Amino acid sequence: MVTPLPFNTSFATLEDMIAMIESNYSNSLCFILVEENTQKNCMPHVTALESLFAVPSSLRNAKIIEIPEGGKHKNLETFAKVIEQLSVNNADRNSLLINLGGGMICDIGGFAAACYKRGIDFINIPTSLLAMVDAAHGGKTGIDFNNLRNQIGVFAPAKMVVVDVIFLKTLPEDQVLSGFAEMVKMALITSDDFWTAIKHAELDKVESLEPLVIEAIQKKMQIVEEDPTEKRIRKILNFGHTFGHAFETLALENDTQLNHGYAVAMGMLCELWLSEKMLNFDTAKRHGITEFILSKYPKFPIQSEDFERLFAILLHDKKNSTNEIKPILLEKIGGPRYDLICSKELCFEALQAYSIL
Ligand code: GLY
Repeated sequence: MVTPLPFNTSFATLEDMIAMIESNYSNSLCFILVEENTQKNCMPHVTALESLFAVPSSLRNAKIIEIPEGGKHKNLETFAKVIEQLSVNNADRNSLLINLGGGMICDIGGFAAACYKRGIDFINIPTSLLAMVDAAHGGKTGIDFNNLRNQIGVFAPAKMVVVDVIFLKTLPEDQVLSGFAEMVKMALITSDDFWTAIKHAELDKVESLEPLVIEAIQKKMQIVEEDPTEKRIRKILNFGHTFGHAFETLALENDTQLNHGYAVAMGMLCELWLSEKMLNFDTAKRHGITEFILSKYPKFPIQSEDFERLFAILLHDKKNSTNEIKPILLEKIGGPRYDLICSKELCFEALQAYSIL
């Protein structure tokens, strides 16, 4: 019998985290995984807790593990460094790893925790908008391999996810936009009302985003609870990601910078075009959404010479079995469909339509 993974719909505050460490990990060795910029910008918020609360000594004495900054380090080498640090510092099965950072830290830290001595507990404290609304929740952990995203990984839920918008204050604008793309995605796959709220979001006042962040997390966790290991409905969370990942991989191959949210935004443009073709998604609505996305995100330029390569990458995407492309499509806003097969010809047409937007 397969035991269901204990996914949790709730998320917590820093104060809740301290209480949990006090009750469950006061005799444990604690580790905090950071990258350079989270060490600089976000650790002070964690350290400041000591002046506000009675912080358990296991947390006060936590060993910091720092890894290099940037998504390109989400690889086997960095994973090995984290494992090595846990090992040389005598982490045991009762140790706790706290992942303080963006999606990269949550993904690689969660994976290292899930693998070290067959699994130790971990807590995610997402500090980027992207991680806060998406990557930190739902138990997907892993690393990239051979330029392909998330090729190695496991489902392993964090014991707790701390959500505090204070961390967003330190984020540069492009990072806010990157996370916001996941919120746009969440709105388009779930509800017209949420989409209307998202359209009116004030991105220059990140703290005002809190209710939208919370709604996005709750919507994600409802889906994850129904299908934790992405056999069915959880696939809809990949809206925009099939084409988005292909753009990301192409950018990586061409040594161009394209962050995840921007790639997903571009992916949504292609998948909306396919939605109109295959499922009669409303044309005027598609134009409105396309205009909204292009008013916020720069277009990732592609030429017709890129189409074959992009298609080859699409075929290799782990979500597409054999020779079929199965992007998530929408019948309407809040009406996602999965497992629909899209032909090579239609993919090329979608890329063509995208390239001349
Ligand atoms: N980021 C999509 C998911 O968690 O399934």
